[in-house]
Amino acid sequence: MRVFSGIQPTGAIHIGNYLGAIKHWVELQKKAECVFVIVDLHAITIPYQPEELKKNIFDTAIAYLAAGIDPEKSILFVQSQIKEHTELCWLLGTVCPVGDLLRMTQYKEKSKQFKRMINAGLLNYPILQTADILLYQTDIVPVGKDQLQHVELARTIARKFNQRFGKVFVEPKSQIPKIGAKIMALNNPKKKMSKTLGPKSYISLFDEPDEIKKKVMTAVTDPGKQIKYDPQKKPGISNLLTIYSLFSGKSIKKLEKDFKGRGYEDFKRSLAKVLINSLEPFRRKRKELLAREVYVEEILNQGTKRAKILAASTMIGVRKKMGLV
Ligand code: AMP
Ligand code: TRP
Repeated sequence: MRVFSGIQPTGAIHIGNYLGAIKHWVELQKKAECVFVIVDLHAITIPYQPEELKKNIFDTAIAYLAAGIDPEKSILFVQSQIKEHTELCWLLGTVCPVGDLLRMTQYKEKSKQFKRMINAGLLNYPILQTADILLYQTDIVPVGKDQLQHVELARTIARKFNQRFGKVFVEPKSQIPKIGAKIMALNNPKKKMSKTLGPKSYISLFDEPDEIKKKVMTAVTDPGKQIKYDPQKKPGISNLLTIYSLFSGKSIKKLEKDFKGRGYEDFKRSLAKVLINSLEPFRRKRKELLAREVYVEEILNQGTKRAKILAASTMIGVRKKMGLV
């Protein structure tokens, strides 16, 4: 079984990325061949600073490793280092209807958010994502809920290509967690926690204890004072309950019982403690890795070498079937 997934190097990796994606990658490593990528070519579809991007790529690599991606088991690399991604993206673009791209929720949202920079790359973003996935003959794509639509499109494109040219690609399936697939922003529980909403919306994997405490204590909650899971009426507390449950391993039911009659402040103080303790190993591992720049670079180089072999082999089949010889 082949697993593939990626994250954009657009800023700090937060607990939404972790609970929705990375935590499951770490589990999947034990039983599947995994390929994890830092998708820098996706990150440049919104305005960015080249110097900052370079730093973010390195920081994202460190985040993967600190969170438990094992370079002995999994392939880890930076997307732009393997030209087959852009090559396949172009070829698949000739199979994908423009209408399918215009329908994508992420495209609609980002073109609203970055009105002055709606570039063709932003529209073609899901084709590049499809190329990422299909190049490695991927069976499973572990992602958060927001990526479901993109993985479905990848599946459709694979099927269309295979029907028209003959079978080259595996049709990938998404794997979305039952709980934690959409962690909401701390300062606005009606919106998804995201890097682009700014640091107040998220807790980074590497936030220091006092930052974690401050963010949790000021997280937006709901009218009333009961600790009860009800995403419609109580989106703020429900989101915090989900986070608490996933980091502590206690069920939401049990947490509701434990905090019965105790009020928001008590609950938040306890959640801050859980988060500070759970994220401590990540902070420690990151500090170690920051001092070993060459080691991290070597992991990425090795990953590129291993991935390149897989990507090149898929491309031979694609070119042949498409008559590009
Ligand atoms: P991105 O930061 O957009 O590159 O997302 C990287 C991965 O994290 C993808 O699998 C997303 O689906 C997942 N993800 C991003 N934000 C959240 C969130 N708020 N809750 C759960 N998963 C998320
Ligand atoms: N679009 C994904 C996101 O924003 C990142 C991504 C790019 C990805 N290529 C991928 C995820 C391939 C899974 C598989 O989160």
